[in-house]
Amino acid sequence: MLKTAFKLLVLSAACSLAGLAAFLFYNRNRSLPFITAAQNALKWENKASFRTEKTPAAPEVGLQTSAAPAGPLQPCPDVPPNLQGVLRVEFSTNRSLEDVRQRLGPVLQEGGRYKPPTCVAKQKVAIIIPFRNRHEHLKHWLHFLHPILIRQQLDYGVYIINQEGDSVFNRAKLMNIGHVEALKEYDYDCFVFSDVDLIPLDDRNLYRCSDNPRHLSVAVDKFNFILPYATIFGGVSAISKEQFLKVNGFSNTFWGWGGEDDDLSQRLYFQGMSISRPDSLIGRYKMIKHGRDLHNNPNPQNVHKLKETAYNMNTDGLNSLSYTVREIKKDLLYTFITVDVQAPAG
Ligand code: UDP
Ligand code: BGC
Ligand code: MN
Repeated sequence: MLKTAFKLLVLSAACSLAGLAAFLFYNRNRSLPFITAAQNALKWENKASFRTEKTPAAPEVGLQTSAAPAGPLQPCPDVPPNLQGVLRVEFSTNRSLEDVRQRLGPVLQEGGRYKPPTCVAKQKVAIIIPFRNRHEHLKHWLHFLHPILIRQQLDYGVYIINQEGDSVFNRAKLMNIGHVEALKEYDYDCFVFSDVDLIPLDDRNLYRCSDNPRHLSVAVDKFNFILPYATIFGGVSAISKEQFLKVNGFSNTFWGWGGEDDDLSQRLYFQGMSISRPDSLIGRYKMIKHGRDLHNNPNPQNVHKLKETAYNMNTDGLNSLSYTVREIKKDLLYTFITVDVQAPAG
């Protein structure tokens, strides 16, 4: 009698286990209703499928991990645990933004915002991208950068600052505007200014700020992976709120291509800072190939203006910034701010 009861007990336990295993197996790739946004985010921090199109995806460890722990969150570790290292980056033409939206939908918040679910991010980072008519590049940037920034465990937001109209382009002024507009939304402490066409080739190149302003795009394919000159600060750079305020931001008066980043570099040195950089093996980038844009020709006057940085920096910058916001559009993947930069006539 006792033996039969024991057999029945063992049988029913085995059935329950088999049922549970079948359920888990069947649902392994599905969005279960009880998978919270936090668990989805975890899955993303661990996921490698955005790493390349050709290398196999790593196992989705995140789903096995428990979600955000109960009680107050601990600070995120210094070195994010799920980085992939070297990435393969290619610019396939059939990539669709809708696909990126679908894949990232469960983890991002409207406006291209993200916060790690299991720990308190080291920094609150606003990524500022100067923009006009580069939608194809933006698509690639979003496709590659969001998964990287998620793995880097940043509390971040992506701001595309779109210059309205077809007057002469002003990259630096768009950066200043991005800084001001992002701060209206959230208490960011770090700003990463990035061209829309620069994609990192290694996710150990962290998009966060350091004791000194940090130049991230150290080795770009366009320059044969060599730093073109020691003081360069263009491409992608990270600067804390304090560092940026100390130099009064960028100059607003560099119209057309060239020099605005060199002017900022000089401002930093004049204020006693120096430029930090990742190792040239980690700070590698691909630039999406492009020609010169309309209304952004090299401006010879900008070269001369570099002699006047020390004289101008206290009056030309954040404290003299004037512009009009035309529209703010929230997409899942970014905040798109169209601005009138008040370009000079002609
Ligand atoms: N940019 C843009 N539209 C333009 C001109 C410039 O969006 O018409 C932005 C874009 O982010 C671009 C950055 O400004 O990556 C720097 O310009 P560009 O790529 O021409 O500079 P370079 O390739 O010489 O570094
Ligand atoms: C320009 C910079 C530019 C750099 C690399 C310099 O001559 O002044 O604005 O970032 O070249 O293209
Ligand atoms: Mn470029």
